[in-house]
Amino acid sequence: MYLGLDLGTSGVKAMLIDEGQRIIGSASAALEVSRPLPGWSEQDPSGWTRATEDAVGTLSATHPQALAAVRGIGLSGQMHGATLLDAQDAVLRPCILWNDTRSFREAAALDSDPQFRALTGNIVFPGFTAPKLAWVRENEPEIFAKVRWVLLPKDYLRLWLTGEHISEMSDSAGTAWLDTGHRKWSESLLAATRLEERHMPTLVEGTEGAGMLRPELASRWGMGANVVVAGGAGDNAASACGMGTVREGQAFVSLGTSGVLFAANARYLPNPESAVHAFCHALPNTWHQMGVILSATDALNWHSGITNRSAAELTGELGDMLSSPGSVTFLPYLSGERTPHNDAAIRGVFAGLGHESSRAALTQAVLEGVSFAIRDSLEALSAAGTSLARVTAIGGGSRSRYWLKSIATALNLPVDLPADGDFGAAFGAARLGLIAATGADPIATCTAPETAETIEPEVSLVPAYEEAYRRYRRLYPAIKGATI
Ligand code: XUL
Repeated sequence: MYLGLDLGTSGVKAMLIDEGQRIIGSASAALEVSRPLPGWSEQDPSGWTRATEDAVGTLSATHPQALAAVRGIGLSGQMHGATLLDAQDAVLRPCILWNDTRSFREAAALDSDPQFRALTGNIVFPGFTAPKLAWVRENEPEIFAKVRWVLLPKDYLRLWLTGEHISEMSDSAGTAWLDTGHRKWSESLLAATRLEERHMPTLVEGTEGAGMLRPELASRWGMGANVVVAGGAGDNAASACGMGTVREGQAFVSLGTSGVLFAANARYLPNPESAVHAFCHALPNTWHQMGVILSATDALNWHSGITNRSAAELTGELGDMLSSPGSVTFLPYLSGERTPHNDAAIRGVFAGLGHESSRAALTQAVLEGVSFAIRDSLEALSAAGTSLARVTAIGGGSRSRYWLKSIATALNLPVDLPADGDFGAAFGAARLGLIAATGADPIATCTAPETAETIEPEVSLVPAYEEAYRRYRRLYPAIKGATI
């Protein structure tokens, strides 16, 4: 048996799989995000360990025998968060999360130093870890002075699970301190934020062993001795392992809190100019590109909150048949945007409202706005040398037929829906646990699920979508500088 632990933004999920990769059970526990000021987004790491205790505790009650047979654990986590620890491993302040944009000035300053793009292959986005440390140094110098370790969220969980300060390539590529092509920390990038390699965890590949489960936790959860914890992965690379997106040409679109268009690459293919992320994959000698939009289901959830209707009710009002885009256009920049704008200050907008604009018209515009944002990522990936023939959809938003049809039409690509099952980050993490414990071949282990159905673009609406996309593209420069 193998256990996958995915530390997401809204919860921790624990999943048990057997030797044949069948899902034996899973359990989740919720997490809250605190937003003390506009643009801020934080979580207390103690909430992560509590939620992990809850989720694994549930599994140990429902599947005690399976848990007793666990040989390997894999970790997946929300990326980029800055978890700051002192010399006693005590947490110095709440973790500053991936969607926190307070450090946009520090990010721009680091990004103007050419070595960052040259070595990391990425823009220094405000969501990344390095600018957060620059912000802490500037604004909370007494905390910065005590920093002994900087850990990513799932690596803090590993510290609690194993007592080890270890990270792996895929998550570390999102810090802006990794030499992504050579898969090692860059002393000179760390020095640019007044840090040294000793502040960073040791690096392994996601498929390698990276600590053993502490005996105290093993006995509390009814597990045996010698449970290895794999390096694991950032949540997007972990999802890719779950989806079998590990070879050139394979891609998925994830409709979660954030939206991601992810493509696996056999080579390191950076192109920071198009605001594409070029990161290490969780498998050795493999990289990936992705376009990231900060609000995907988050945009629909916001609309659901202000209309007091559930997301399912709102999308239900549209029916399953795709309509031609109407006069209303929505830009989903509720927390700024990464791909393609790298603009933390921009905010969303509804344009083209009229007396006739109904709630359904606004819902339609929200779904289209997110589809067009993903189209922007497709354009960015293509500028970075990746061409895709189809994508697989995952994440909560992929439950809406309408949305899937809209994405297929906006991308003008077939969208595959995996057969029933859960192939997300927790599953990918469990696979990494299996590989680390057994030495199984990573590519042979990370197979793609069966396709249950393919959603084709609505050919008759492709021209109308194309025109609406052009309108969408014209709005960003028009509102930039006009919003506060
Ligand atoms: C990726 C990113 C998000 C988080 C969400 O760069 O910031 O997808 O990983 O958990």
